Amino acid sequence: MTSTARPPRFSDRRVVVTGAAGGLGQVVAALFREEGARVVATDVTAAEGVVPCDLTDDVAREELVQASLAELGGLDVLCNVAGIQQFAELGKITAAGLRKHLDVNAVAPLLLTQSYAEALVASQGNVVSVASISSVMGQPYNAQYCASKAALLLGMRSLAVELGTRGVRVNCVSPGGIATPMIEAAAAGLPADANWDLVAKSTSVIPGFMPPADVAESLLFLASDAAASITGANLVVDRGVVW
Ligand SMILES: NC(=O)c1ccc[n+]([C@@H]2O[C@H](COP(=O)([O-])OP(=O)(O)OC[C@H]3O[C@@H](n4cnc5c(N)ncnc54)[C@H](O)[C@@H]3O)[C@@H](O)[C@H]2O)c1
Repeated sequence: MTSTARPPRFSDRRVVVTGAAGGLGQVVAALFREEGARVVATDVTAAEGVVPCDLTDDVAREELVQASLAELGGLDVLCNVAGIQQFAELGKITAAGLRKHLDVNAVAPLLLTQSYAEALVASQGNVVSVASISSVMGQPYNAQYCASKAALLLGMRSLAVELGTRGVRVNCVSPGGIATPMIEAAAAGLPADANWDLVAKSTSVIPGFMPPADVAESLLFLASDAAASITGANLVVDRGVVW
């Protein structure tokens, strides 16, 4: 009798997933485990089975890197999922808020990639980072998030060039609206007199926010051997917002 079940794609692969306490990252970590991976899941928010780490803390982040490499014995896949988003109109943006977006969404994933680079060269592994449609389109009340996600996307594409010469792939997934706690929290920053015509320009043609699993599948694809010839890519998963 032949089986139609797909063989696990990540048997004994060593994976680090950031932002894994909830939302998209939790689903990504669970899917990797289902497919045989050994996963270190981390987040600044406490959760069962998740290693606590504030990725904007240089010392804590480096401790996480060393501890995860020791636990896993190397690394095959780095998944940068952690992120923050708070809507704010121009007059409400603060230097601290803008820097926080840049630190969490761009600086931390780039420095994590730097710290894991030699391990990834050794395993001929890869990096998948969660950017956003906000990386490539202007959105009202979202300048600090858009700026940080644009920095992430082009930073990762630059690393794809550098690390590609050493056999390491670096890709991004750019989601549109996902049904996670982030959307609700971010919306709290919208002004009471928000211009909804402008906001609607970021609305998908296929209605509704996406389930996290729809987006998670794209991360696993890019991390898998099926994507062996894909690097520097930006896989947009948005139900049709960016054309
Ligand atoms: N929800 C959406 O509509 C949407 C759309 C496009 C892109 N994204 C991106 O998807 C990723 C996952 O977001 P989500 O929707 O699951 O949101 P979420 O808020 O549920 O998850 C983000 C996680 O990142 C963690 N995090 C925040 N700051 C951190 C820090 N300093 N150190 C370590 N961890 C930190 C949070 O604790 C949280 O668990 C983010 O990068 C986000 O920007 C989300």
